[in-house]
Amino acid sequence: RRRAVPALGSMALPMGTYASLGAAAFLVLVTCLTYKLLSRYARRWREIQAIPGLEGTYPFVGDALQLKSNARDFFCQIHEISERFRNAPLTKLWIGPVPFILLFHAETIEMLLNNSKHMDKAYAYKFLHPWLGTGLLTSTGDKWRRRRKTLTPTFHFSILTEFLEVMNEQAEVLVEKLEREAGRGPFNCFNHITLCALDIICETAMGKKIYAQSNHDSEYVRSVYKMSDIVTRRQRMPWYWSDFIYYFLGEGKEHNRNLKVLHSFTQSVIQERAEHIAYMESDSESDQGAKKRRAFLDMLLKTTDEEGNKLSHKDIQEEVDTFMFEGHDTTAAAMNWALHLIGSHPEAQRKIHQELQEVFGSSDRPVNAEDLKKLQYLECVIKESLRLFPSVPFFARSICEDCVINGFRVPKGADAIVMVYALHRDPRYFPDPEEFRPERFLPENSAGRHAYAFIPFSAGVRNCIGQRFAMMEEKVILAYILRYFNIEKPSLASPVQHLCLLSSPTSIHLDFIVHVFWSPVSAPGRRWLRVPAILNLRPPAEALPTVTLFSFSQ
Ligand code: HEM
Repeated sequence: RRRAVPALGSMALPMGTYASLGAAAFLVLVTCLTYKLLSRYARRWREIQAIPGLEGTYPFVGDALQLKSNARDFFCQIHEISERFRNAPLTKLWIGPVPFILLFHAETIEMLLNNSKHMDKAYAYKFLHPWLGTGLLTSTGDKWRRRRKTLTPTFHFSILTEFLEVMNEQAEVLVEKLEREAGRGPFNCFNHITLCALDIICETAMGKKIYAQSNHDSEYVRSVYKMSDIVTRRQRMPWYWSDFIYYFLGEGKEHNRNLKVLHSFTQSVIQERAEHIAYMESDSESDQGAKKRRAFLDMLLKTTDEEGNKLSHKDIQEEVDTFMFEGHDTTAAAMNWALHLIGSHPEAQRKIHQELQEVFGSSDRPVNAEDLKKLQYLECVIKESLRLFPSVPFFARSICEDCVINGFRVPKGADAIVMVYALHRDPRYFPDPEEFRPERFLPENSAGRHAYAFIPFSAGVRNCIGQRFAMMEEKVILAYILRYFNIEKPSLASPVQHLCLLSSPTSIHLDFIVHVFWSPVSAPGRRWLRVPAILNLRPPAEALPTVTLFSFSQ
């Protein structure tokens, strides 16, 4: 024991020395890191100095002091910036120490989206990871490549055609709901359309009916909306980017509460479906005749990768959650905008009615794949609506290696924002860009237009995997609505509100929501009613108001 005392005593000196050495090493490390970060920052600053940008940019804060914090104002602001620099090849924005390059010309966007080096998503997508994991939308590199290859066949046209049944069914429910509103003055149809889109994606993605159209108080539905809101709010608030601060001071707890609801719902659906498939496969006696509708989930449960491995339930959950997130508010926003524009342009509406008359005559049968091909003018209307109001008005990529865009050097680590909203207003490709002219998309008028001038679904290898599904859904729902109703924007309607709801993947994904006023009231004292379909009274489109629809004094 006596020997232990000096031993401890002799340790005291070296320990102090170690502590000092440790502190010195730490200081050196911090200095080196700070130096490295600062010199990298200074290099970036110099490198992109030549790219046109705002005045009043300061080191470290960048343009942050001039930027609006509210989502809607921020979107309007960056659109204004794009317009101001319309004639410049690109422009830059410093958000704090992070440089963003804004692209709004088909030529520069093509250079970015066509380059397999820049396929990674920007930093802001990271806040979607707790919910969507690293599914198709958020994954990168090899994982994304493998997944995309595995999932592409599930969006094959023949499979999508099977989903037509669900779309028709839900469109019927929607029309019945709208009928209850019709004739009672203008009303906001936004929620009706959105719940219909939600029902469609739930049943097609998971094979699960949630009856959102009749029961909009479902906990799962509420959590989908709440979560989209929470995530996009966090993306706009850099002070909540740190998990530690977010979970202690921010909405972290609320975030996790919703996450639990969302994940337990999809987990149980996947489990149930997997058991059902296993039972059907194992029991040759089971009634194969009672065929259950296929859903994306069924295909994911059966699909295998190149090595023949099945996807795990966790992998499948990432994709199902991604489809749920990405696959309904985008289509809902697009349909709402289309309705608003149709209601504001009677001539376009007349042409749609005429086309519907030619395709369906007086029948109220469901829409089939052949009909979809024939609805060419309606397709032009949908495209023109997506041009003016793209559901995803901008999205971002990370620049993964130093590159040159249109003569300007862009360093690795910058984020590039593709300004779809501004791109679609390029007068070189769309003269009088603010005008609603569906004829722009007739084949003879589209010939020769730059392939990247119109990209509502992004472009290149990382484009939207659901675009055919989306176009199909929009056509079915709009065809249903317009077969039965006239849409009119009341003359005293309040101005269209560009509400950037940010209910999509990142702050980069914004949804425009317009309050579409739907009024079958054409003049005071008259109202129009839908004639019951069984009467088969559907007249030629021109006669729609007077024959198909009853008209009488109130
Ligand atoms: C009008 C409707 C839609 C629009 C405008 C739209 C637009 C887009 C855009 C612009 C992207 C690229 C996003 C980015 O790079 O950050 C994207 C990606 C994606 N979309 Fe859509 N989308 C729509 C509907 C759908 C639907 C219905 C589904 C699923 C059923 C879907 C699933 C996806 C997925 C999984 C991705 C990621 C693809 C990948 O990175 O490989 N989308 N969408």
